[in-house]
Amino acid sequence: MSFLEELQRRRTFGIISHPDAGKTTLTEKLLLFGGAINEAGAVKNNKIKKGATSDFMEIERQRGISVATSVLAFNYKDKKINILDTPGHKDFAEDTFRTLTAVDSVIVVIDVAKGVEEQTEKLVSVCRMRKIPIIVFINKLDREGKDAFDLLDEVEQKLGLRVTPLSFPIGMGYDFKGIYNIWEKKLNIFDGDIKQTISEGIEFTDINNPELDTIVGEKHANDLREELEMVEGIYPKFNKQEYLKGDLQPVFFGSALNNFGVKELLDCFIEIAPEPQPKMADIRLVDSKETKMTGFVFKIHANMDPKHRDRLAFVKIVSGTFKRNTNYLHVKLNKKMKFSSPNAFFAEKKEIVDQSFPGDIVGLHDTGNFRIGDTLTEGEILNFKGIPSFSPEHFRYINNADPMKSKQLAKGIDQLMDEGVAQLFILNLNGRKVIGTVGALQFEVIQYRLEHEYGAKCTYENLNMHKVCWVEPTDEKNTEFAEFKRVKQRYLAKDKKGQLVFLADSSFTIDMTQNKYPSVKLHFTSEFK
Ligand code: G4P
Repeated sequence: MSFLEELQRRRTFGIISHPDAGKTTLTEKLLLFGGAINEAGAVKNNKIKKGATSDFMEIERQRGISVATSVLAFNYKDKKINILDTPGHKDFAEDTFRTLTAVDSVIVVIDVAKGVEEQTEKLVSVCRMRKIPIIVFINKLDREGKDAFDLLDEVEQKLGLRVTPLSFPIGMGYDFKGIYNIWEKKLNIFDGDIKQTISEGIEFTDINNPELDTIVGEKHANDLREELEMVEGIYPKFNKQEYLKGDLQPVFFGSALNNFGVKELLDCFIEIAPEPQPKMADIRLVDSKETKMTGFVFKIHANMDPKHRDRLAFVKIVSGTFKRNTNYLHVKLNKKMKFSSPNAFFAEKKEIVDQSFPGDIVGLHDTGNFRIGDTLTEGEILNFKGIPSFSPEHFRYINNADPMKSKQLAKGIDQLMDEGVAQLFILNLNGRKVIGTVGALQFEVIQYRLEHEYGAKCTYENLNMHKVCWVEPTDEKNTEFAEFKRVKQRYLAKDKKGQLVFLADSSFTIDMTQNKYPSVKLHFTSEFK
């Protein structure tokens, strides 16, 4: 197969949802279609169970599983599909944001009864900002839930999407009869059996055909006719270009648990979802069709074996062919590196590969060279953009609890920050270290891992802060900036890259500061230029 054919058959995407909407179940069903796994239950447990926040074994187990399921690849029809796992737990939201920089499209799963939930809103807003093409899957139709039109309204309003249903449910809950597949003009009847065989659906181009009454009953048939007429009247017609530009979002209905409506989703997905997309770097746009290899690190995972501190850096290939044992430039370190055992991912396995193509993810063994956001090229000096840090919401001072192990502690903190577990800020005034996280769970993870992987002990001290803002002085003379630095010196720190940040104790402080020093711009993300 030629390079171009390899590229064009790849579809790299993420599934996002609020926890419990059915992301894991849907992922698993998609893998079954690809023949990548044989039994249900294989991807299950790929999440921290509810209420297990203090269970360290659970955290460790989760880490183990999430290495294996970070990338799930399978072939379906003529396409190679890469699903990038995004943790549902809100304390790991930052990890999800970073993974979204490596996907070319997403599927959003929504629970029919719960509708649009908080985590979905946050994640979709990131996708919208980046104009990522989105397909919506409304799940759990075998249960009583909200009316389909109300839900579509909610999706439009809360998520700011412009939707067009490509399937429509017939009944719901106990009375769920199936779906009409608008995309393929087929009727799919639900028989309520969890292990039901996947049917191709019945060709049904004319819904006025009286046979519909015989199949689903007169009431449902009439309702469906009416509803489809409304769909046609209210919603825009599906247009692939608009979907690809992030301006129109097709919606499917189904039940992942019952493997119902999933095949329709997948069949449409492979037809419409984008192939590997170009990506913006600091100096230019890199097209996926370019033959020179470029890629970037979007995730780093520590090895599970505490004795060997090697890590796996996940690189998304943006352009060209990544080859084993070939020299590449680590741009930030200005260092040539080659990799003798790059891993590719297939279902739940990883294996050594000789070459990978745009859209693919390779796992590179790393002894501490990589940080999230690093770029690899064949020699060109460019850095991919788009892996910002966001302001953490929880802050604590971190102290050394074992003076004999201060080196280990420093190294441990350094490496855990490279992995993106949390962010480190060093106060300008006294050099104290502050850890900032998205959720409280990370503090426990850090303490546990420092002890078990680095032999270091730490304690925390509360620090009541609201957010950090990245500081950008914009006045020419810098007088206002100098004044800002003098007045706020107790609250200024450096992030891991040496960028200046301002620790603010309330949103009021941020507003006040911004008003007082208008030329000193305060940003909530590290990448503002
Ligand atoms: P998540 O990854 O988004 O967190 O959700 P997950 O797939 O784990 O699904 C959450 C719960 O919803 C699971 O039940 C799952 O079986 C159920 N579920 C998923 N899809 C459907 C569906 O189409 N219909 C119905 N009725 N339920 C569905 P659980 O009891 O929390 O877990 P388990 O005991 O089944 O593993």
